[in-house]
Amino acid sequence: MAVTLGFDVYGTLIDTHGVVTSLQILIGAKAQDFSQTWRDKQLEYSFRRGLMQNYVNFASCTRHALDYTCAYYRVDLSSKQRDSLLELYSVLPAFGDVKEALLQLKSSEFRLFAFSNGSADALEELLTSAGIRDCFLGVVSVDDLKSFKPNPGVYSHFLRKAGATGQSSWLISSNPFDVIGAISAGMKSAWVQRSAEAIFDPWEIKPTLIVNRLTELSQQITEWEASQS
Ligand code: LAC
Repeated sequence: MAVTLGFDVYGTLIDTHGVVTSLQILIGAKAQDFSQTWRDKQLEYSFRRGLMQNYVNFASCTRHALDYTCAYYRVDLSSKQRDSLLELYSVLPAFGDVKEALLQLKSSEFRLFAFSNGSADALEELLTSAGIRDCFLGVVSVDDLKSFKPNPGVYSHFLRKAGATGQSSWLISSNPFDVIGAISAGMKSAWVQRSAEAIFDPWEIKPTLIVNRLTELSQQITEWEASQS
């Protein structure tokens, strides 16, 4: 059976800190920390929305997190400046290893899907502007379910949409919470540890595989699958 790979988007394929250069122009030296708090709050809001069953889409979580972060750092950005930051967020760049890795995996007969908290429209725009939309057989959004990762239901939804089983599927993500969520829901998962400082949550659930770059995936997954048969 062909192996299905579901790629997390924000933070795995797409660099959420791609706004830092524009932030530096607006707020100077705080830009890096601001970007990290913005991202952390965006995810926290998605977790809380999911738990509360009070869904708004991921773009709304991103907007609310931006407003929180401006208040936290006492940065007075106008609504026009906030809108232009959010517009940049919809066309963030891909990491440098992404295109090469996806083309390599596609030619090795893996079935590739994007699978994300982002809504379908936002994902189409983002992946198209990053020049990688055509690498995927499909784009699966949690928005169909009005919930967020790591609700186990969204991983089941991914498998149904991708026409795959947990046994034949891998989630590929740089986000430890996503890797743990996928394995807990019955998939395999590769953690993309892009920097030596990135920490995996010290829970009882470990990644099936760890790679440092997406270009390592093809060989590592092929070897892992062969070792099981
Ligand atoms: C996503 C979030 C987790 O793309 O970054 O689903």
